Amino acid sequence: MNARSPIFSTRVDEIAEDIFRISTPVPASVVPGGFTFNQYLVRDDEPLLFHTGPRMLFEAVREGIDRVIPVSKLRYVSFSHVEADECGSLNQFLAIAPQAVPLCGQIAAMVSIGDLADRPPRVLADLEHLALGKHVVQWLDAPHLPHGWECGFLSESTTRTLFSGDLFTQFGEVHPAITESDILEPSEIARAGMDYYSHSPDSSRLLERLAATAPTTLASMHGPAWRGDGAALLRSLAQRLASTPTRQ
Ligand SMILES: [Fe+2]
Ligand SMILES: [Fe+2]
Repeated sequence: MNARSPIFSTRVDEIAEDIFRISTPVPASVVPGGFTFNQYLVRDDEPLLFHTGPRMLFEAVREGIDRVIPVSKLRYVSFSHVEADECGSLNQFLAIAPQAVPLCGQIAAMVSIGDLADRPPRVLADLEHLALGKHVVQWLDAPHLPHGWECGFLSESTTRTLFSGDLFTQFGEVHPAITESDILEPSEIARAGMDYYSHSPDSSRLLERLAATAPTTLASMHGPAWRGDGAALLRSLAQRLASTPTRQ
């Protein structure tokens, strides 16, 4: 298998104003149960990509971005935490986008990105805002939620979109781009099977901070994006984590 294989059928959908979900399904023969890798592109004066996808998908993601803007125009490449699907292609994107820099939190910069990335990152402190043009993103530190000391999330205030990373991960390779149906129960099935949360006692407090941004769109990394009362859904997740903190 390689990145140009016809099994990769990347789709691009606008899920909020000038925010595009770039999603590549991966079949059950590659990931049991099938899976999706989503990246999000904010089209603005200073375009931002959230998640790069793994290196395996670099060509597919690059082509998806090019359907919306020239990939060379990327200004920020951001991600929730340091893993292959979050930022595996970071340096490949920096190589083809001369103005692009990594955008991450302080822990990621200190522990990994200051060394791993081919250009120094723009580092965001907890709750710091960054204007992209008409969109404004805010970084929220979320250590170990769901995993990774350096973990954090971006909230976009004009569309009230929360780039929610691995939260609400679902298996399966066929999903709508965005749904208003329940995503908590399907993602709880994934959590029970994979136990990918850190069991941090701080999860409820961190989820409450995310809920305080009152998102109306959750831009999940694996599965569909979601539209609805994001604060209520995040609080429901906090309750589930508190009541079923360990693998069943
Ligand atoms: Fe992850
Ligand atoms: Fe992920």
